[in-house]
Amino acid sequence: MTKFEHIHVVPIGTALGAEIQGVDLSEPLQKETVIEIQKAHAEFGVIFFRDQSLTSQEHLLFARSLGTIDINRFFAPVDGHHEIAEVRKEPTQKFNIGGGWHTDHSYDDSPALGSILLARELPEHGGDTLFASMYAAYDALSDGLKDTLSHLKAVHSSRHVFGPQARLPKDLNNRLQNANDATQDAIHPAVITHPISGRKALYVNPGFTLHFEGWSKEESEPLLSFLYKHASSPEFTCRFHWRKNSIAFWDNRCTWHYALNDYHGELRLMHRITLSGGPLAA
Ligand code: SIN
Repeated sequence: MTKFEHIHVVPIGTALGAEIQGVDLSEPLQKETVIEIQKAHAEFGVIFFRDQSLTSQEHLLFARSLGTIDINRFFAPVDGHHEIAEVRKEPTQKFNIGGGWHTDHSYDDSPALGSILLARELPEHGGDTLFASMYAAYDALSDGLKDTLSHLKAVHSSRHVFGPQARLPKDLNNRLQNANDATQDAIHPAVITHPISGRKALYVNPGFTLHFEGWSKEESEPLLSFLYKHASSPEFTCRFHWRKNSIAFWDNRCTWHYALNDYHGELRLMHRITLSGGPLAA
């Protein structure tokens, strides 16, 4: 495990997740602190900060200290801040955003590095987010299946989730936009090497992966179903209980996440800034 000198890192699970303490994200960060935050992010897959009462401007400055912002074209933006996506569920709405296992932007040729999600308004109970480690999921596979997967690529798409054919439930309409821009399909290795940690991670997900390249959907389905069941095993996951002003910063290259929808009749409002990544390699 990496040694940290500028931040205090408290793991919250065995497979992934750590809380970062001793940092005030409303202040400009020293270069050494940013480097350690990036290391912790790659090592733990998702990192959490508590009690960060940030303005949108401070949220943006923190994001920019870590990389370049990738504006999600499908999420409605926060008023006055087009680079911040709103993840909202009103008391009258039934469907939430992100309510199933997925990794963001795998439908892009250069998938996003990760997102920085800040809790603005929370239900009294519920609304937790689950995370799963694709390092741990990959490590636990047999050598035989690892070898098979090392020869496979998978096709990912945004069309069936955000496109006109997705037939989104009406109460999601005002929260998602640009359905006609959902034209992206991308092909990535089924197992990638993480660009920073150098570790292998399983890179297929139930939200956006369609099938293996050169395989039909029917042929792909049994293996994908096995991998999804395997990768979402409780021992590869952690669960984050939000408090107002908590932040989760996850790495899309080595994790999945799942926003629980168990707080009907209450408001949950989160602000999300997504960071650009790069092409992924086996
Ligand atoms: C998302 O999938 O980006 C939303 C996660 C959450 O609201 O917890």
